[in-house]
Amino acid sequence: MSYNFMTAAEAASLINDGDIIALSGFTPAGSPKAVTAALAERAEAMHAKGESFQVGIITGASTGDSCDGILARAHAIKFRAPYTTNVDFRKAVNNGEINYTDIHLSQVAQRLRSGFLGHVSTAIIEACELTEDGRIFLTAGVGISPTIARLADKIIIELNAAHSKTMIGIHDIYEMERPPYRRPVPVVRPSDRIGLPYIQVDPAKIVGVVEVNLPDEARGFSEPDPITDKIGQNVAEFLAADMKRGIIPSTFLPLQSGVGNIANAVLSALGKDQSIPPFEMYTEVIQNSVIKLIKEGRIKFGSTCSLTVTNDCLQDIYDNMDFFRHKLVLRPSEISNCPEVVRRIGVISMNTAIEADIYGNVNSTHICGTKMMNGIGGSGDFTRSAYISIFSCPSTAKGGCISSIVPMVSHLDHSEHSVNVIITEQGVADLRGKSPMERAKAVIENCAHPDYKQLLWDYLKISNKGQTWHSLSAALGMHQVFLKKGDMRLTDWAEFNQ
Ligand code: COA
Repeated sequence: MSYNFMTAAEAASLINDGDIIALSGFTPAGSPKAVTAALAERAEAMHAKGESFQVGIITGASTGDSCDGILARAHAIKFRAPYTTNVDFRKAVNNGEINYTDIHLSQVAQRLRSGFLGHVSTAIIEACELTEDGRIFLTAGVGISPTIARLADKIIIELNAAHSKTMIGIHDIYEMERPPYRRPVPVVRPSDRIGLPYIQVDPAKIVGVVEVNLPDEARGFSEPDPITDKIGQNVAEFLAADMKRGIIPSTFLPLQSGVGNIANAVLSALGKDQSIPPFEMYTEVIQNSVIKLIKEGRIKFGSTCSLTVTNDCLQDIYDNMDFFRHKLVLRPSEISNCPEVVRRIGVISMNTAIEADIYGNVNSTHICGTKMMNGIGGSGDFTRSAYISIFSCPSTAKGGCISSIVPMVSHLDHSEHSVNVIITEQGVADLRGKSPMERAKAVIENCAHPDYKQLLWDYLKISNKGQTWHSLSAALGMHQVFLKKGDMRLTDWAEFNQ
């Protein structure tokens, strides 16, 4: 079969107003870039003519600016799931323009298969190679690609020369069956391969191939600072102590690490702590710090859904694929984040909180309860099933005007039942086996910033007593004061009716 090679604009013209499209990749890694940008131009041209043009977009995780950014600015997104990090997209969500559904990433493929998210008309898949018989070799991220390639009516391939063909062989493509009677996912070790290195489709479904040469759009990281360094050190010391007392086996356990600056700093600290033996990762995103630690022999193997690394780091991987081929595997998100596997192989999860409350509830997604930040991502997939679930964050945000430790979270993503440990630069609150009031003491004493400790102790004094002490009129008082006066430190509990 010979494919229909076309421009990005021609491919975009195959997508209609109201369609639901689904994209390859996971984070900007492996996401299509050209057809989505052309789609934004098409939408703008239609809008200029007074015609409506908006699509629904489903992905593995976030994408780059040439998808979520460009399409949000073109007012071309009607509905979107399950995760994004783009600033312009965020604005459009928070002003009510885009319907955004924030979903646990491991569940997206199943929800698509089950029809919860509507019918996918077109899958746009970035590939580094495509064969005449319909084998698609992916690039730096897998996400939901196998499922959307099967479910979509038509497939558009972005054949991206910026990704090396040395990628071939690094993917492990396995799709779950629909319930009931699904077989267990046969991953026992992070390095186990259970599927094929490519996605097989009927070549007749591939309606267009767009050749591009566009690098991934992963952002760089802020250099670790004294606060993120201290958080990382606290995480490393906590894990080393748990290993010393036999709670973590001496072989160590596979780690999952979230996205962002703090996660990157935590991993760097773990790599430096020589009391922790070389370890494996069972995670959804691999960032620069992991690649460095693989090269140093501190990380033995990484199972992931994407290589969310800077382009120079990705080039380094491509140039040294003979080495990395035996150290990395890229899986679909429903396998990389599979809660059943996570529970069984004893993954230690390490994610970042926006805020945590004194009882151990965590908000990962909303600022002051209303404004969406990014989404829950894979944090829930791992946290609920983890051997040990850790959340870390700086004890304050916005120059100290916000305490990340509050009486009650303004939005709940991870409840006290799933969160084991909270870590800030101030210290570690180990919540395992503790009652709510024991947890409150540990969190205030060990994690709150000194500027906020007394305020939090005083909150307990004005609270109604019970299993969990709260004043329902004051529980979100610190947030309210921030919204009114710009600084949580100005909270005066006397202003809140009891
Ligand atoms: N109130 C208001 N703003 C807050 C805040 C709070 N309590 N805590 C953090 N922020 C702001 C920071 O000030 C910063 O704002 P800026 O971009 O204007 O500087 C922003 O949130 C990001 O915080 P930062 O400290 O740089 O951390 P990060 O880059 O590690 O991101 C999360 C933190 C929570 C937003 C990010 O980890 C996330 O989206 N997590 C949810 C998804 C997830 O956990 N995935 C894990 C599996 S991969």
